[in-house]
Amino acid sequence: MEANPPKRKETRKSLRIKVISMGNAEVGKSCIIKRYCEKRFVPKYLATIGIDYGVTKVQIRDREIKVNIFDMAGHPFFYEVRNEFYKDTQGVILVYDVGQKESFDALDAWLAEMKQELGPHGNMENIVFVVCANKIDCTKHRSVDESEGRLWAESRGFLYFETSAQTGEGINEMFQTFYSAIIDLCDNGGKRPPSSVGVGFTKEQADAIRRIRNSKDSWDMLGVKPGATRDEVNKAYRKLAVLLHPDKCVAPGSEDAFKAVVNARTTLLKNIK
Ligand code: GTP
Ligand code: MG
Repeated sequence: MEANPPKRKETRKSLRIKVISMGNAEVGKSCIIKRYCEKRFVPKYLATIGIDYGVTKVQIRDREIKVNIFDMAGHPFFYEVRNEFYKDTQGVILVYDVGQKESFDALDAWLAEMKQELGPHGNMENIVFVVCANKIDCTKHRSVDESEGRLWAESRGFLYFETSAQTGEGINEMFQTFYSAIIDLCDNGGKRPPSSVGVGFTKEQADAIRRIRNSKDSWDMLGVKPGATRDEVNKAYRKLAVLLHPDKCVAPGSEDAFKAVVNARTTLLKNIK
């Protein structure tokens, strides 16, 4: 009788990944990393000089991953130092301070800087991005609300978390989900799995919500010229109502945008003969 071959214990190879942090100076990048890795918070601001590097091992699902973290300095002065660290990255932690609108508005410039450094052959599609809306403990000074941040992130296929490095809120959940998405990416041959790409709303819906939020008056909100006729107002209203109706649109902020459009129409029709 043939002996059974000895059973070999199935161990999956541990994974090595590189992640970087990006975002304006003082938004809390280093504190977020410190909170997760060292479980502590430093209230004093110690600006990162150029780049900080650290290695950490984490266990996510049944996998051990070795994470090389490159924590970038946000100050423009350090551009020359950080620009060579963008390549060969699997994950990006993109941070803004919810009490500082400029840091939110700067996110596009951070993406542009990375894109430029990766060059024409660089592929931003197959990197996991997580957006951290940080310092949510400072509720008094909040100037970017959740739906605005979430819309920006999710319309680009990025993860979104509300975090506080000070209290620790959202930090573990953010890192777990982020690392988990990177494992899925690596298991899928370095390509973002199709299931993580769809966001459940269209770019047209996201653009309309953003435009409505930033509109200066009711005409602008409906996208009609001042002095437009009742017919023109109604036509523009119907188009937006169909696009943003809460039954049809799951984009963050769609309900508020829909209400704003209804109010804008009512206001304009009151004054048009
Ligand atoms: P650079 O290294 O200059 O790019 O800045 P950074 O983004 O790494 O900021 P850092 O983590 O050093 O934090 C900047 C300041 O914000 C420090 O004084 C922190 O204590 C404070 N801070 C960071 N996160 C939070 C937070 O969640 N809540 C509050 N209240 N303060 C925070
Ligand atoms: Mg720092």
